[in-house]
Amino acid sequence: MSVDLLEKTKPLPTAQDHPRSEASEALRFSPVNPVIGAEVSGVDLRQPLDEATVARLRRKLVKYKVLFFRDQPITDEDQIRFSHYFGGVTPAHPINNGRDGGPAQIMENVKSQQAARQSVFTEVEKQHHRAFARARSGRGWHTDITFVANPSDISFLRNHESPESGGDTLWVNLEALYESFSPAFRSHLDGLQAIHGRDDAHRGFPPPPRADGRPTGPYLSLHPLVRVHPESGKKALFLSPGFIKYIEGYSEGESEALLTYLRNELAGRLDLQLRFRWTPNSLAVWDNRATSHWGPVDAEHFEEERIVRRTTVGASFPVGPDGFTSRQIAGDLFFVLDDY
Ligand SMILES: [Fe+2]
Repeated sequence: MSVDLLEKTKPLPTAQDHPRSEASEALRFSPVNPVIGAEVSGVDLRQPLDEATVARLRRKLVKYKVLFFRDQPITDEDQIRFSHYFGGVTPAHPINNGRDGGPAQIMENVKSQQAARQSVFTEVEKQHHRAFARARSGRGWHTDITFVANPSDISFLRNHESPESGGDTLWVNLEALYESFSPAFRSHLDGLQAIHGRDDAHRGFPPPPRADGRPTGPYLSLHPLVRVHPESGKKALFLSPGFIKYIEGYSEGESEALLTYLRNELAGRLDLQLRFRWTPNSLAVWDNRATSHWGPVDAEHFEEERIVRRTTVGASFPVGPDGFTSRQIAGDLFFVLDDY
């Protein structure tokens, strides 16, 4: 894959670049809590947006990390158009095919007790796998597709159907988590890299072939353990518990001790998290460069289907405080489908 097909994030527009418009003045941002997230009102996402409105939304996303829009009865095409205001839109997912007959940019995710994937493992193999499985805090939490060296910058998730109760998603602010560590610990983390990976076949769930013929794994990537946000310049712990495997250059015991500490900090810091209850026609937009998330948190407990549709934009390479730039070890890089 040539580098010109990989999308870098363009500079964040400043307030001077785009003076406010009537539409941008109508936007209202209500913080979910003082650390992460805001609900946005005063905008109709079925309509095209002007540059001032887009610039203000983009700046607020960097500030709040997650934006929530409720009561937005939008179509797949509306979601793709809105996503495109933030960057080049990617295919649905590096491994999963898009929805049958739907746009290539849309990934549909269906979860419920009945929709759980069926393992191809025998009972003995499952028993063996369970014995080495990590705690839920080490699997459920993740930053999207960090098994590639250029994971999605921003994700857009739209509620399509939700159970009567359950299906919530949680987010954590990884800049605030990083800043909560001691200066000595932070400077140690600043110089580390970690291997991230995904191999569904190895876990008993061989993926069906992709419609475009691309390989479905295994994937391995090497990322800085701390990444510098390209727009704010702030540092965040780049911990994607579901995909991170080990600290590069550490022994197994050293790596597991450090990652267990970091995973427990991420999962246990309720003061740095938010929990979102999905309502019909809601849309969540989050900055993968500064957050991890986990959802739905309780798929084994509800019977009705929880269906969401996702788009992602950007496919830039994370950069660490020392300038280390992520690289792919195995599997293909990701890419965007169009310019923006
Ligand atoms: Fe995700």
